[in-house]
Amino acid sequence: MEKLALFGGSKTKTTPFGVGKRFGEEEKQEVLEVLDSDILFYVFGTKVREMEAKMRGMYGMKHCNGCSSGTAAVHIALGSLQLPPGKEVITSAITDMGTLTGILYQCLIPRFADIDPETYNMDPAEVRKLVNSKTGAIVAVHHAGLPAEIEELKSIAAEHGLPLVEDCAQAWYTHYKGQLCGTFADISAFSLNHFKLITSGSGGMVLTNRDDLEEVVKLFIDKCYFRDGRKRNPYFLAPNYQMTELQGAVAKVQLDRIAVIVRERNELGMRLIRGLESIPGVIPQHVPEGREHSFFLLVVRVDPRVIQATVAQFCEALDAEGIPCEPNKITGGMATYLYDIFRNRSAFPGSAFPFVSRDLGSDISYPKGLCARAELAFEQTFNFNISEFYSTDDIDDMILATEKVAHYYRVKNV
Ligand SMILES: Cc1ncc(COP(=O)(O)O)c(C=O)c1O
Repeated sequence: MEKLALFGGSKTKTTPFGVGKRFGEEEKQEVLEVLDSDILFYVFGTKVREMEAKMRGMYGMKHCNGCSSGTAAVHIALGSLQLPPGKEVITSAITDMGTLTGILYQCLIPRFADIDPETYNMDPAEVRKLVNSKTGAIVAVHHAGLPAEIEELKSIAAEHGLPLVEDCAQAWYTHYKGQLCGTFADISAFSLNHFKLITSGSGGMVLTNRDDLEEVVKLFIDKCYFRDGRKRNPYFLAPNYQMTELQGAVAKVQLDRIAVIVRERNELGMRLIRGLESIPGVIPQHVPEGREHSFFLLVVRVDPRVIQATVAQFCEALDAEGIPCEPNKITGGMATYLYDIFRNRSAFPGSAFPFVSRDLGSDISYPKGLCARAELAFEQTFNFNISEFYSTDDIDDMILATEKVAHYYRVKNV
C-alpha cells in the first residue's frame, strides 16, 4: 500500500493549483470612471443602475436592486414581505448566518427544516412538517451552489398561501431544469462577498417580479426615504443598505463573467464528482437530474461504514497530499441552529426575544438533535473548494489523492 504523505510518503500533488485574477481591465476602467465622475452615491450615479439593468436582463426579471451585502439582500427580501413580528420563517438547517440575520431583525422566528442527506439541501417533506398557522414565509437556500428542490418548495408555499424567498448567495447563474435559480420565488437574494463566484468585495442584489414588493424593497434599502421627489417621511423601520457606485461598477462587469465561471466550475466539479463516485467509502454530493451545480463548494461524505477514519483525519491526510481540504467548515462545522445565538436564545441583550415572548406567543428552542441529518452531515462530510482557474489535471490530482487516502483508511483496520 502506498504510504500517505502524512506519514512520510510522497505527495500526490506536485504541481501548483491553477490560479488567476478575478478582476481585469474592464473593472479597472469602470471604477476609474466612477472616481472621475466624483460621485459614489447610487442615487446620483449611473453604475448601480446599469448593473441592476444588466441583472434584470440576464435573469429576465422585472426588478433588481443592488445593496450592501447578501445578508442585507435577505433582510430586504424579508422586510419587503411586511410580516408581523412573531411569524415563523422556515429555512434550512444548513446555511450561513446571513440567511438568519434578517429574520431575527424583523422579529421573526426561524424554524429549521432538516436536509436531504444526499444533496444537503432542505428536504421539502421536513418543510411540510413545520408549516403551521404562525408560518409567515419559507426561505429556500441553494446550498453550496446546488439548486434546492425549488419547484416542490414553491408548491408548498402556494398550497399554504405563503411567500417564498430564494437565498441564491451561493448559487449564482445556476439552473434548475433550465430555469435560473432566483427566478422561482416571490423575491430572491444574492451575495457579492469575497468568497462568492463573483464579487464586489461586499455587496448583494434583490430580484423580484412583484411590483408591490419592489416598492418596499427600494425603501428598505434606504432608511424608508423616497428618492423620487416625494417628501421625506419614513413610515416603517428600514436600515441603510445602499450599494455604492464603486461596488456597482465592479459588480456590473463581474456579471459579464458569471456564465463562463459557472460553466467552467460545472465542468470541473462534475469531473470531480464522477471521479469520486468510483471510490468506495467516498460519497460526493448527489446532483439530481436537471440540476446544474455551480460548485460554490462540493460537499463530500466519508462513509464511516467503509472508511476507518474521522473526517478530520481524512482531511489532514488529504492536506498532506497537497489537496486543501476542510472538514465541513462553511457554517463553523455545525448545523446553523447550534450557534450560541439560537442555543442560548440570545439575539438581543438580556432577553430571549423573539424566541420567547408573551406578546408574540412564542416559546421556541433549538436543542441538539433537532435536525439529525444535518448534524450527522457535519460529522461525516468535508468540502472541496473548486476554482474556475483549476485545470483538469488539478481535478484528477484531487481524485487520485482522495483514492489514495480512502484506500489507506479502507484497508487499514480491516
Ligand atoms: C446562503 C448565504 N446566505 C447569505 C449570505 C450572506 O452574504 P454576505 O456575506 O454577502 O452578507 C451568505 C454568505 O456567505 C450565504 O452563503
